[in-house]
Amino acid sequence: MSEATNNLRLAFLGTGSMNGAILRGILGAGHDPKKITATLRSDSRAGELRELGINVLIGAEDSEANTKAAADADIVFLGVKPVGITELCDEISDALAPQTVVVSVAAAITLATMQAHLRGGQPVVRSMPNTPLMVGSGVVGLSSGEAVSDQQINLVAELFAGSGDVHIIDESQQNALSAISGSGPAYGFYLAEAMTNAGIAMGLDEKLAMDLARATIAGAGKMLSDPEANPADMRRAVTSPKGTTEQAILTFDAQGIPAIIEAGAKAAAARAAQLSAELG
Ligand SMILES: NC(=O)c1ccc[n+]([C@@H]2O[C@H](COP(=O)([O-])OP(=O)(O)OC[C@H]3O[C@@H](n4cnc5c(N)ncnc54)[C@H](OP(=O)(O)O)[C@@H]3O)[C@@H](O)[C@H]2O)c1
Repeated sequence: MSEATNNLRLAFLGTGSMNGAILRGILGAGHDPKKITATLRSDSRAGELRELGINVLIGAEDSEANTKAAADADIVFLGVKPVGITELCDEISDALAPQTVVVSVAAAITLATMQAHLRGGQPVVRSMPNTPLMVGSGVVGLSSGEAVSDQQINLVAELFAGSGDVHIIDESQQNALSAISGSGPAYGFYLAEAMTNAGIAMGLDEKLAMDLARATIAGAGKMLSDPEANPADMRRAVTSPKGTTEQAILTFDAQGIPAIIEAGAKAAAARAAQLSAELG
């Protein structure tokens, strides 16, 4: 992490699963915990956050927790549920310094929606992280609003880089990114679930079937984590002509699995667009 990034004062407003994962990734990359403040509504998870050495403010104990944290920060991460984002923007708007960058991790909340609930000219970034961020193998898409400088988006990207791959994209691509990498971990789990059930159907006991499916998907994922890896080439490399794997792949193709996956991803993107319209 560069010295400029390490010197940033960060605020995490609503530090649940996702903001907590981003925070841990940033700490893991060596950020000074004393420069980080996290807020929660209740004190249920405060203990584990305090153990990280960061400052923790609880909304139930201090009604100004969010505004105090936001006022002191160079970058603010909004980690509440999508329905709570506009209210949180309204709450902190007057407390923010003009150059403070506001990063939302909420699905479906557009830059325009955030901007409408903050002061004009406030730099805003929309992010779509995924859950493997929690184990340092995440993917995040970032889109910046008009007021964000190149230096600011690069600082935000550097902060996320502690927990995964970062892609800076136009906001028009956010729903498609969300349908592939945001929802994608569930598709991997779904495949492991289906493989488990297939093993059981062939007479394996449940634990053995699950162990085989889990470790196989995890191992394949590890091989795919090489940035040079090409999934189609890797699949061909383990599919011998006239062999057993080929029979499975031919069956998947004949039954239309690729088209089914495309239809599922398009349905996820369409739902993201619908949520944006509803929440905007
Ligand atoms: N989880 C994912 O896979 C995923 C992926 C991509 C994006 N996201 C986005 O991440 C955001 C959070 O999701 P999550 O799964 O992390 O939810 P979560 O675990 O429920 O975290 C939300 C946190 O916000 C706190 N909170 C709520 N209102 C607050 C307020 N006004 N001030 C301060 N803290 C407040 C809650 O505190 P209490 O517990 O005390 O109420 C909770 O700790 C969502 O917008 C979601 O779209 C999630």
